[in-house]
Amino acid sequence: MNDLSGQKALVTGGGTGVGAAIARTLADAGAEVWISGRRPEVLKAMADRHARLHAVTGDVTSPEDCARMIGAAGRPGIVVANAGAAVSKPFHRMSADDLRDMLEVNLLGVFNIWSAVLPALKETGSGRLITVASTAGLKGYAYVSAYSAAKHGVIGLTRSLALELATTGITVNAVCPGFTDTPMLDDTIANIMRQTGRDATDARKALTATNPQGRLVQPDEVADAVLWLSGPGAGSVTGQALSVSGGEVM
Ligand SMILES: NC(=O)c1ccc[n+]([C@@H]2O[C@H](COP(=O)([O-])OP(=O)(O)OC[C@H]3O[C@@H](n4cnc5c(N)ncnc54)[C@H](OP(=O)(O)O)[C@@H]3O)[C@@H](O)[C@H]2O)c1
Repeated sequence: MNDLSGQKALVTGGGTGVGAAIARTLADAGAEVWISGRRPEVLKAMADRHARLHAVTGDVTSPEDCARMIGAAGRPGIVVANAGAAVSKPFHRMSADDLRDMLEVNLLGVFNIWSAVLPALKETGSGRLITVASTAGLKGYAYVSAYSAAKHGVIGLTRSLALELATTGITVNAVCPGFTDTPMLDDTIANIMRQTGRDATDARKALTATNPQGRLVQPDEVADAVLWLSGPGAGSVTGQALSVSGGEVM
């Protein structure tokens, strides 16, 4: 296992779901980990469970908040841009504002937090920029065109920045989960039930069926991929979009 003792990390959206699993995994590996999000009570409840977890509130759509979060975390060397949100609507009901909202949190949110830490990483000549994108950044899905557009954008950002930083000691990668068992998935299931009249079991089955392994991805599996990308052994891995989807995307 990677030993991250002495390292500092920031995980946006670290209070719930995939972000919480990543934060726990990095802290278990020895890192001091700051978790961020907009709801202080959620972050506090999570931080209270582990001595190496620390809470800092902030909205990733605000560059000022991102600069403050990076400062609070003491210029972390590992920054996991995980915060995100999904809206599900058929294209003909989607507004330009829906698209802007998706780009704001899922794409600009990543840009804001990475931009805030990059000067410090360049000074030290090392660092790990990681984002939790999605298989929706690698293929299309019906009814989530705005979310998918934003996640495709994140993959482009990752690949291009990786090339710009290739000689600096800083790697830039995206982890792309398929449907993962988190609060966001619960919202997706509720939405399918509303739109189609299916019950919760049927809605869950429909999502599970997209995964060739016939199951949902678990948050800890995404976290283990992030742990590996955070360690010294992944130093030559950059610009990648790593599919964690049971073979749904290959
Ligand atoms: N679940 C899936 O099936 C799945 C599949 C592929 C990719 N993903 C991606 O995985 C990431 C984590 O999602 P999840 O499934 O773990 O869902 P989740 O539990 O809803 O997590 C989303 C997190 O992002 C935070 N967040 C949302 N908007 C924010 C903002 N503007 N500023 C700061 N924090 C914000 C939320 O905290 P606050 O509300 O407190 O701010 C929350 O902790 C997302 O990027 C998502 O797109 C999920």
